[in-house]
Amino acid sequence: MPRRFVSERRRDPYYRAAQREGLRSRAAFKLAYLDERFGLFRPGARVLDLGAAPGGWSLVARDRVGARGAVVAVDLRAIEPIDGVEVVRGRVGDSRLIERLGRRRFDVVLSDMAPRVSGAYATDHARSAALVREALDLARVALAPRGAFVAKVFDGDLVDALETEIAASFDQVRRTKPPASREPSSELYFVARGFRPAPAAGGESRAPDATRPTTAM
Ligand SMILES: C[S@@+](CC[C@H](N)C(=O)[O-])C[C@H]1O[C@@H](n2cnc3c(N)ncnc32)[C@H](O)[C@@H]1O
Repeated sequence: MPRRFVSERRRDPYYRAAQREGLRSRAAFKLAYLDERFGLFRPGARVLDLGAAPGGWSLVARDRVGARGAVVAVDLRAIEPIDGVEVVRGRVGDSRLIERLGRRRFDVVLSDMAPRVSGAYATDHARSAALVREALDLARVALAPRGAFVAKVFDGDLVDALETEIAASFDQVRRTKPPASREPSSELYFVARGFRPAPAAGGESRAPDATRPTTAM
């Protein structure tokens, strides 16, 4: 790890607070902010957390939905076990993941997924946007009616089109940048509420769009 990154991280108040509070990642503060601002979680809710490693968001979600709720954490990477959280190792965008999740319906689908950063901004933005589409496809299958969807994207010229795609399935979409997002960072979050499932037309009309290419990771 570059020395400059390590010393910047030590000075980062969110990183230090996350260490102190056993939160696994500074990202946990972003989800706490989103919940406080948009009221995402209620006791007993079922949450699907995409791109969950190392588990900061899952811990926040678990604590907020309580023992009657459920949290399923999905990532390409291994996640150390978390009490009260079901961990599924897999790639969002792989149709076998939908089979593994079964026919469960979730009240909230979260995506904090990020591509491996190349440093070429246009490439990273396009990859990040592709991950939002993968998460949205999965959310359209897995969300219960009126459910909520949260997704991170690296800001750029595809954001308006993504918002339009999300808005097609929800009553309301907002863009926000939590204070814990690093200042120069270009990330933002979509928060969509009031999921409206597509009307069933002779069977499984809620399957993901098979014509869309999968994300190359
Ligand atoms: C910023 S980290 C998530 C941090 C997490 N929210 C937390 O609070 O600990 C982004 C994660 O997205 C995961 N990821 C990226 N693409 C993915 C994909 N297609 N399927 C599953 N996970 C993916 C990465 O492996 C990485 O762990």
